[in-house]
Amino acid sequence: MRVTLLVACLLALPAAAFDIEGHRGARGLMPENTLPAFARALSLGVTTLELDLGITKDGIPVVAHDRRLNPDITRGPDGEWLANPAPRVRELTLAELARHDVGAIRPDTAYARTFATQASLPGTRMPTLDEVFDLVRRAGNGAVRFDIETKISPLAPDDTLAPEAFVRTVLAAIDRVGLRGRVTLQSFDWRTLAAAAALAPDLERSYLTLERGNGDNVWKGKGPSPWTGLDAAAHGNSTPRLVRAAGGRVWSAFFRDLDAAALAEAKALGLKVLAWTVNEPADMIRLADMGVDGIITDYPDRLRDVLAARGVALPVPTPVQP
Ligand code: G3P
Ligand code: CA
Repeated sequence: MRVTLLVACLLALPAAAFDIEGHRGARGLMPENTLPAFARALSLGVTTLELDLGITKDGIPVVAHDRRLNPDITRGPDGEWLANPAPRVRELTLAELARHDVGAIRPDTAYARTFATQASLPGTRMPTLDEVFDLVRRAGNGAVRFDIETKISPLAPDDTLAPEAFVRTVLAAIDRVGLRGRVTLQSFDWRTLAAAAALAPDLERSYLTLERGNGDNVWKGKGPSPWTGLDAAAHGNSTPRLVRAAGGRVWSAFFRDLDAAALAEAKALGLKVLAWTVNEPADMIRLADMGVDGIITDYPDRLRDVLAARGVALPVPTPVQP
């Protein structure tokens, strides 16, 4: 009798929703990591807002992808596009950062060609994490999650706070608004995830991987990785096994690195698997068919269309003005 009841209860539980993550808000549609981008994502309807984090000179978490301001998308207080090397986020106070404009892409750049349909909103400034939380509150959205990436590198220790100090600062901001239960902390630099595991074991962590090019953090065949702290060879050169060895439950893989065998292995290890950053509908369909748990995309509108055509229940839009 008890077993029957348990089975009935389990069947009544809703399946975990497919995770629609708006990358940098909705970078394909609005300037990345800005309030207009997060407002657009909320207005379309997403399960998660993906965003990147830096910490200012005065200790404020701000939403920024690059450790140094990106000259492709940033104009200085004089209205001119920044030159390289641009200042580090950690070298500027919040007041100094606020005098920079991140609302448009510099013309004639590869970035401008890649995101030709992104709206231009001159006068937009970099938001604080607090402002993103407040936007969600104003949207009346009590469900959307936050996938917050610590932008920190073991190869550039002078560029940011050290891992533990970085995590403590972010945690304090999250806890001030009581949102720990709706945040996932993600990083290529697993030192920050280890710090989070120690400081806030109940905070969900997502282990980012990239297995190619300059940003490779897995280092197969190259010995211990400064990013993961692990030698892939000691874990059968299996990325899902590395994630488990680090204490991870969520693996977020560059979508081109992900194949059916790796996904099956990850599932057998009990991992939730996300794919980043997927912008073409054909890739979204392939990955959804393969069985990923979520997709991070610059175009949440496209992902919603793909999933709607497959009969997947979609998150409710919560329109809001930035
Ligand atoms: O969420 C994963 C993805 O955002 C990682 O790449 O460079 O866009 O932060 P990046
Ligand atoms: Ca990111």
